[in-house]
Amino acid sequence: EKGGYDHFMLKEIFEQPRTIYDCLRGRLDVENGKITMSGIQQYAEQIVNAGRIIIIACGTSWHAGLVAEYVIEELCRIPVEVEYASEFRYRNPIINKGDVIIAISQSGETADTLVAIEKAKEQGAIILGIVNAVGSSIARLSHAGAYTHSGPEIGVASTKAFTGQLAVLNMVALLLAAHKGTIDRDRYLLLCKELTAIPEKAEAILKLDAEIKAIAEKYKDASNALFLGRGYNFPVALEGALKLKEISYIHAEGYPAAEMKHGPIALVDDQLPVVFVATKDSYHEKVVSNIQEIKARKGKVIAIITEGDTVIPGLADDVIVLPAADEIVAPMLSVIPLQLLSYHVGVAKGYDVDKPRNLAKSVTVE
Ligand code: F6R
Repeated sequence: EKGGYDHFMLKEIFEQPRTIYDCLRGRLDVENGKITMSGIQQYAEQIVNAGRIIIIACGTSWHAGLVAEYVIEELCRIPVEVEYASEFRYRNPIINKGDVIIAISQSGETADTLVAIEKAKEQGAIILGIVNAVGSSIARLSHAGAYTHSGPEIGVASTKAFTGQLAVLNMVALLLAAHKGTIDRDRYLLLCKELTAIPEKAEAILKLDAEIKAIAEKYKDASNALFLGRGYNFPVALEGALKLKEISYIHAEGYPAAEMKHGPIALVDDQLPVVFVATKDSYHEKVVSNIQEIKARKGKVIAIITEGDTVIPGLADDVIVLPAADEIVAPMLSVIPLQLLSYHVGVAKGYDVDKPRNLAKSVTVE
């Protein structure tokens, strides 16, 4: 059942080239530059005319929502808010008729997310569900949506569902941007191509497994870790920290790299591993200065970088080198080494990575 892998988590990490491919298949037609997602298309006009989009989710799915905020605002110029379902449902939120809610959930059964969208639906919002589990409660409650087609996720820590969510959200953003006319044709076609290339690049990243395992073993006894990134990679930093906490019980925090100056930098000493998600994008130069700031305080820097980067290898203690990708699609790739890192730290510490203590796969109680 684990397909020759030691754990479901590892199997599911390794399935990603396939699951991302399955998610894109039948929807993204690169040759003709066409994206087909009937559920979304049906509401496209209402979505692009909506005053705002509110994304509601928990945990890892909430991180996918944060990436989507950056992508949708950039490509579609529609204001996006990302809310924790548990906060949204209890704070008497302002919902106007015609507001668009995107609920993101792997299981489709998360209690807080479910109740949050019920509430928004009663108040006249359009509910779109980005869900993995077919026929689940959130899928049924949504007006329309798109499945991630990631297949069953058994490991408690979400991995392939996250990259599936990002793939769907990227297609949704491109579809809406094309509908609204906020993206020029060349950029649109380029991003379609970039999306199609993800499975192959993910495959290349999985080949770094042994390298990542060695890094994990080097840092496994750390008692704290920081994960930093900017822009599209900021939510990836949050996700990397969440994965490490869940799987290895090492206290980890994710921050936007520039925020560290406002507090977390006080933690930095020669014992602290700081993981930078520092792939080549429009924020790169800024991230390089943040790395220098950590090194000046003797922190240990592990950097996720893009091939051809000649600067960061000279600064970081360890680098993990990824294939180049457009910044819009990059989170689907930059998260993979972080999934592997937490997996290997957890295994090296002798923990049950498929069933971390205190966690349930689906949180059906609030
Ligand atoms: C983290 C994790 C959780 C879930 C969260 C939401 O690895 O699995 O944080 O992402 O409980 O679950 P879904 O997506 O099923 O609504």
